[in-house]
Amino acid sequence: MYYGADYYPEQWPEEVWEEDVALMREAKVNLVNVGIFAWSRIQCAEDQYDWGWLDRLLDLLHRNGIGVGLATATASPPPWAIERYPEMLPHNADGVVLSPGSRQHFAPTSPEYARLAAALVTAIAERYADHPAVKLWHVNNEYGCHLHYDYSPHAQVAFQRWLHSRYKSIEHLNAAWGTAFWSQIYTGFEQILPPRRAPYAINPAHGLDFKRFTSDALLDLYTMERDILRASGATQPITTNFMGAFPPADYWKWAREVDVIADDCYPDPNLPESFRDAAFARDLMRSLKPGTPWILMEQSTNAVNWRPTNAPKAPRQMAALSMQAVGHGADGIMFFQWRQSRRGVEKFHSAMVPHAGLDTRVWREVVQLGAQLEDLAVMPPESHARIAIVFDWECWWALNSGHHPVGIRYDEIVQRWYSALHKLHFSIDFVQSTGDLDGYALVIAPSLYLLSEGGAENLASFVDRGGHLLVTAFSDVVDENDAFRTGGFLVGLQGVLGVRVEDFGALVPPPAARTSRSAGDAGSSENLGPVGEMEAPFAWHGRTIVGHYFAEEIHTDTAEILGVFSGGRLRGRPALTRNTRGSGLGYYVATIPDDPGMEALLADISKAAGVRPEITNASEWVEAARRGATLTIINHGSTVETFTARSASGGECPAPMQLAPYDWVMIEKPSLGVGALGQAASLNG
Ligand code: GLA
Repeated sequence: MYYGADYYPEQWPEEVWEEDVALMREAKVNLVNVGIFAWSRIQCAEDQYDWGWLDRLLDLLHRNGIGVGLATATASPPPWAIERYPEMLPHNADGVVLSPGSRQHFAPTSPEYARLAAALVTAIAERYADHPAVKLWHVNNEYGCHLHYDYSPHAQVAFQRWLHSRYKSIEHLNAAWGTAFWSQIYTGFEQILPPRRAPYAINPAHGLDFKRFTSDALLDLYTMERDILRASGATQPITTNFMGAFPPADYWKWAREVDVIADDCYPDPNLPESFRDAAFARDLMRSLKPGTPWILMEQSTNAVNWRPTNAPKAPRQMAALSMQAVGHGADGIMFFQWRQSRRGVEKFHSAMVPHAGLDTRVWREVVQLGAQLEDLAVMPPESHARIAIVFDWECWWALNSGHHPVGIRYDEIVQRWYSALHKLHFSIDFVQSTGDLDGYALVIAPSLYLLSEGGAENLASFVDRGGHLLVTAFSDVVDENDAFRTGGFLVGLQGVLGVRVEDFGALVPPPAARTSRSAGDAGSSENLGPVGEMEAPFAWHGRTIVGHYFAEEIHTDTAEILGVFSGGRLRGRPALTRNTRGSGLGYYVATIPDDPGMEALLADISKAAGVRPEITNASEWVEAARRGATLTIINHGSTVETFTARSASGGECPAPMQLAPYDWVMIEKPSLGVGALGQAASLNG
């Protein structure tokens, strides 16, 4: 189990390093990421390196038994590089050149940047690949974080090259993009520009390919550095830090290229539900490389500096969120950063060593967490989730691009389905539509607008083999080029679902994202513009479920109707259907239920699929995360919570357990019993 932080000794006189190392030992820190933003400190001019300080630092850390995640330092090019090669600066969609003075001021496709970065990485690797302190390589930092898309002349050339290699001929591109629409027929790849600001919306296929290109261009930079490290003889694992469900980088593709998944995650203490968003990110990270532990590479000990209001964490919340990561598969708990900066943009950002000193709650919690992590037994990497949610980046890019029947955000809808399952205390994995679905009892495919033929076949074969599949409104609408297929909608999944979509029946969207009737906001329609239907209720098992966004007009073919719309323009028409195919089931819901509706639906269909929650009789503030036979249970709420855990045999353990706010407990399923529970509960004091 790694425990530590990003460490910026270059911001401090060397006398402070000795104290740092002594404190690291006290806190049981065993890994620090060094050099992430040290390019200008390492390389003072194109032909001049200063290694002395880094040599001394690595030796000091090694003497003290502290491992190093050595950064390649390429995330912030130094002033001399920009002075010499200003053409490496990125451009925004308006064609404005973005200035240096901050960080990440490079066009990812700039040959000058690539050349300088390659030289730096080669020099670092040649010097330190064999250093015994180096346990991990930390390539660059948060690729694409600040600069999601670059529209520079470099990007233009690289995009054209990328398109050429994808389509081979301009005729193929014209066909795929549908350029006959609005007179866009190209006669050469050199005519195609990045989708800079235009008078009106650009061709969606053009926009989609630019997003694919951007993810690939960033990934090319990562693999370039990784390959240099390997060629220089480095044998340690190599990674770069992800940012949860981050739109510009298709992490399914990236995951194949990193040795270990690393994630940065900063839930907002001002949002009580943000622990659920963190759980989403953690389950996604685990799912990206099944069976392999991941590292929580950055989180904060307390407040951050970059929100409008940077609230502190509640006492013990930092440990609760750390144990959440462990429960969801992390074998490393790291922070940004070790010692709070005295200068610069991030001086108000918390750290393991606070500027306020060691007689602080944060330092005490840091030391306590280090001791607790050291005591943890080795945990199995696998989760054994029986429910998976389909999450595809290409669908995300296409669905969020607009000009659809109604404005809807894919990420938000997926997160809401996840939250509903999470509140019900299920273990959850994420999968691609083309991913391996063996072992799952239930797969949820929320608004899978863009679906490839391969994805549709994969989902269909899952049902054929006995799986239960829930597909929700606005799925299987377009192919990989964001174009309708011949034969209408739901073409790929029609056989599995036994329904056909005639019309999407857009509804005026709910006033605020992720609110529901029960949240009391549904009445405020003042800002919604035109008055129109907002809700599509349907009856289901004696209760009314409220649908939003769509009230699709569907026709059943082989499916049975489970619920019909009970109001609105589609009153009496099917809203929820179930199709039997082989030993499997394909459900379709022709709207997007509100939050309680999602929960009600999922509680029912998961039961039918034979999947049980990890704990019962628990409120939504209690989280249960399973790794193999180990269950980590955390109270993220502000009051004492009671719940019942399941025993290894599946039955409920007779004794209910209690957890104080932000308390957690880890229990081993096989030894589960009253005594074991009582003991375990005292683990965290
Ligand atoms: C990101 C960066 C860090 C730091 C933190 C602050 O995650 O990777 O360098 O800026 O944010 O929260």
